[in-house]
Amino acid sequence: MKVEVAIVGAGPAGLLLGHLLRSKGVDCIIVERRSPDYVLSRIRAGVLETVTTDLMRQLGVDARLNADGMIEEGFNLADGDRVVRIDIAALTGRHVTVYGQTELTRDLMEAAPDRGLPIVYDATDVALHDLESGEPAITYRKDGETHRIQADFIAGCDGFHGVSRRAIPDGRAYEREYPFGWLGILADVPPCHPELIYANGPRGFALASMRSATRSRYYIQVPLTSALEDWPEERLWDELAARFDPISDRGVKRGPALEVSIAPLRSYVFETMRHGRLFLAGDAAHIVPPTGAKGLNLAASDVAYLAEALIGWYRNGDEAGLTGYEARALARIWKAERFSWYLTKLMHRFPEDGAFEHRMQSAELDYVAGSRAMQTAIAENYVGLPL
Ligand code: APR
Ligand code: PHB
Repeated sequence: MKVEVAIVGAGPAGLLLGHLLRSKGVDCIIVERRSPDYVLSRIRAGVLETVTTDLMRQLGVDARLNADGMIEEGFNLADGDRVVRIDIAALTGRHVTVYGQTELTRDLMEAAPDRGLPIVYDATDVALHDLESGEPAITYRKDGETHRIQADFIAGCDGFHGVSRRAIPDGRAYEREYPFGWLGILADVPPCHPELIYANGPRGFALASMRSATRSRYYIQVPLTSALEDWPEERLWDELAARFDPISDRGVKRGPALEVSIAPLRSYVFETMRHGRLFLAGDAAHIVPPTGAKGLNLAASDVAYLAEALIGWYRNGDEAGLTGYEARALARIWKAERFSWYLTKLMHRFPEDGAFEHRMQSAELDYVAGSRAMQTAIAENYVGLPL
């Protein structure tokens, strides 16, 4: 089989890239290791920048996003009883949209057949070949047979644990691991507050978020040694109530969990996003801690750049876009890495920190509370820097 662009991975990065390329007539295919159900069972963050919603609109896959997405004009940073509202609408003239990544993934998956975007699910032993030649290829196994796809280009959109990054011999990784994880719970109960609240306190970080007027998403900071068994639902709700009852509009409503999971936090950038005819995008090249919800939005900006570069090449043989892709993407990636790291440092209790560092966090939030300049800096990063 021969296509113009072969995409590895059907997460948000691969799906968005596939749709962007198809919308300009580029022939492509996506090869995904998991099943559609598995892909749709992953619960991730839910805050979209306009960069991301604009792409969904441009692709015409925005019907559910328009109907169900919640426009958020502000969010809150709290420590103890103090709540500092960041009025992103007043400070930037923009907003973010709360819409689950799982729903965005579903919209892109469901639109694929009509747009002539084939997706091969349950592909095993995916391997990349001849990346330095003009005819790179992907092989995979499915239903007991080995398949080979010849392409002009390969897009590695296969996430942090995929094969694409490992096919690049000369990359350099920059990494920071954090000494805690986030325990998340999703439940069909009304959110405690109309806007997100990121809260720091002696018991650690907690986040009150939502998916809709009737579905809440909460997280708390837990030690890396914590296991799900340590957190019976009642204990988790007690903890959330202790954090958010004093500072939220409605207080924490409890209900049976639809999903509970623990994820570690990491900052990671791999600085070679191109090797021959292979280009990396999304989590395959970088990870941010979820504080600030930049993961999906960065995947979206990567593929916007990459699609533009590939389309330029197909339209008029323009190599400049492809050559410039990495530098253009990295400039935005490092700024989002900085912001996610900053918000993580400001809002979490680090086990190694003492009283001095806690005073520093408190002084920083004091400064934010009193400075429109600081609030603007936080707001413009939160809504997303321009493409
Ligand atoms: N072959 C094919 N597919 C693979 C392989 C492989 N060897 N390895 C992983 N994949 C698939 C995964 O099953 C997943 O569906 O690649 C996809 C990668 O998707 P994500 O991990 O969602 O990464 P990305 O699309 O870059 O999205 C970035 O979305 O998933 C979140 O946390 C992520 O917020 C970040 C954003
Ligand atoms: C979420 O709703 O899952 C969410 C929101 C904001 C974040 C991270 C996660 O920063």
